[in-house]
Amino acid sequence: MIDFFTKRRDIVIDLGTANTIVCLEPQGVVFNEPSCIAIERKYGSDKVVAIGSKAKAMRGKTPEKLKVIYPLSSGAISDFEMTKTFMGTLISGLLGRFIFKPRVGISIPQNLTPVERNSLYEATLLAGAKEVVLIEDPFSAAVGAGIDISSSRGRMIVDLGSGLTEVSIISLGGLVASKSSKVAGDSLDMAIVEYIKHHKSLSISKDMAEEIKIKLGNIENPSHEERMSAKTKDLIHGLPVSFEISSYEL
Ligand SMILES: Nc1ncnc2c1ncn2[C@@H]1O[C@H](COP(=O)(O)OP(=O)(O)O)[C@@H](O)[C@H]1O
Ligand SMILES: [Mg+2]
Repeated sequence: MIDFFTKRRDIVIDLGTANTIVCLEPQGVVFNEPSCIAIERKYGSDKVVAIGSKAKAMRGKTPEKLKVIYPLSSGAISDFEMTKTFMGTLISGLLGRFIFKPRVGISIPQNLTPVERNSLYEATLLAGAKEVVLIEDPFSAAVGAGIDISSSRGRMIVDLGSGLTEVSIISLGGLVASKSSKVAGDSLDMAIVEYIKHHKSLSISKDMAEEIKIKLGNIENPSHEERMSAKTKDLIHGLPVSFEISSYEL
């Protein structure tokens, strides 16, 4: 029991453009939800209404005073104040479980500027962390994939995110080379939106395209056909229709 209260607890957060994952020891993943925040502007100040999946579900259905924001885009922080609020809400929500302030590790994209890194560091301390360690994405991805990052053998890590694909070579615990491209998961979604527009004269949302990609996209066994049906709006008449799409088309 004493061990439970005195043992230092660590939190590791993968702060992604689309999704944020939080891992606690020894429970494992305790949060895996969109990097999304819903705020209400009241008397000139912002109040957090929801974060994660709850906030995402409000998108497109909010009254004027409520805003749903994805504060990171293409792996960089596009709305810093909101990123701080998101991290603050996330960490203080988790800190309820801690008697002592925990150490917090944050996995960040390599393209953050020193100013952004510093502000994120400060924001996490402000949210109640005892110590903050920023870990670059390729290293956390490599550790997650069970790769020994201290080995002298060069390893290539490909991290395909929503807005950014990062390809890195690591060796002996350091980054040897890296390149990133904005062609990533979102580009695949947009390609599906375009395909359905041109081949079926239907308009679908990016979220529906993502659902189709996840359900039907299959590079491991491309000869196996899967089909799904979905509902959307006809581009010509504006009426609701259902359509079928197959993994072969994708
Ligand atoms: N099972 C899957 N098959 C194909 N793409 C997927 C699958 N699961 C998630 N994705 C895609 O991965 C991207 C999100 O990756 P993630 O690492 O969470 O993003 P980020 O690091 O940018 O927050 C999205 O484009 C999502 O559609
Ligand atoms: Mg990611």
